[in-house]
Amino acid sequence: MESIPAVDLRSAADTEPPVGSKPAGEGDLAVASILAGPFQRRSVSFVHRDHRLGPTMQRTWDEHRKRLMIDVPRARATTSVAAGFLLDAMRDFGREAPLVVEIGSGTGDAVVFAAQAHPGTNFLAVDVYRPGLAATVAKIVQHDLTNVRLVDADAVQVLKHMLTSASVAEIWVFFADPWHKARHHKRRLVNPVFAELAASRLAQGGTLRLATDWLDYAEQMREVLDAHGSLTNPYAGGPGFAPRFKGRAMTRFEEKGLASGRAIYDLEVRRD
Ligand SMILES: C[S@@+](CC[C@H](N)C(=O)[O-])C[C@H]1O[C@@H](n2cnc3c(N)ncnc32)[C@H](O)[C@@H]1O
Repeated sequence: MESIPAVDLRSAADTEPPVGSKPAGEGDLAVASILAGPFQRRSVSFVHRDHRLGPTMQRTWDEHRKRLMIDVPRARATTSVAAGFLLDAMRDFGREAPLVVEIGSGTGDAVVFAAQAHPGTNFLAVDVYRPGLAATVAKIVQHDLTNVRLVDADAVQVLKHMLTSASVAEIWVFFADPWHKARHHKRRLVNPVFAELAASRLAQGGTLRLATDWLDYAEQMREVLDAHGSLTNPYAGGPGFAPRFKGRAMTRFEEKGLASGRAIYDLEVRRD
């Protein structure tokens, strides 16, 4: 595995089950205390919520999961990815094509919309929320899409272990959990470690796109990305935000933000 210079990636180490995740085989609700013991803990950007599916969704999930979900070997935590497990485009998609990775794909509206519009692109949807992944599977089936695969894992682990350097055309993070309370800011996904990982996985000229309806998180994202030596913001100079990404479908989270009177902030940076 190649090493990534400049930023200390210990917070994304293989052996650390993230807070909010749990050791494989434990019950559904994450309990941080069970993660104590021999492991160092790190904060993660998600909460591992209830995974129960309704009967119709369960049937769809059971029928199509094997074909659409990439079966990821775990290190220890259920949201981890074992070191050395790489995405293999031929094995996982049945073809080589430019790859777009959506982190926190939720119920799949954005990725399904984009996959319909770009049949020549492979899309990897990453989330840890089983009902969201199941809803995405249902939409892929409904639209008969062949260019989307899903991973049920922490995106940091996916970037670190499954994706080789310079292998990704675009990485998308739309409406990541904002973690409002100051004491929770450490759980925000977009931080210097994430920026370094994302930059290392993007091909030269590749794009990282983000959107949020929370100004303070948008400003934090912009600061973190501006500070990265190999990422260029084509909209720097003004407030630094990009126009709304036309390839982004309207999701429930964007609608909720707008309905609450909040503005939407798009960010776009290119890998030099
Ligand atoms: C607020 S929702 C937004 C979902 C979707 N992007 C949309 O706009 O509808 C954030 C999603 O990101 C997922 N998420 C947060 N951190 C993650 C991580 N480190 N790895 C994978 N998924 C993550 C959560 O489980 C949740 O489904």
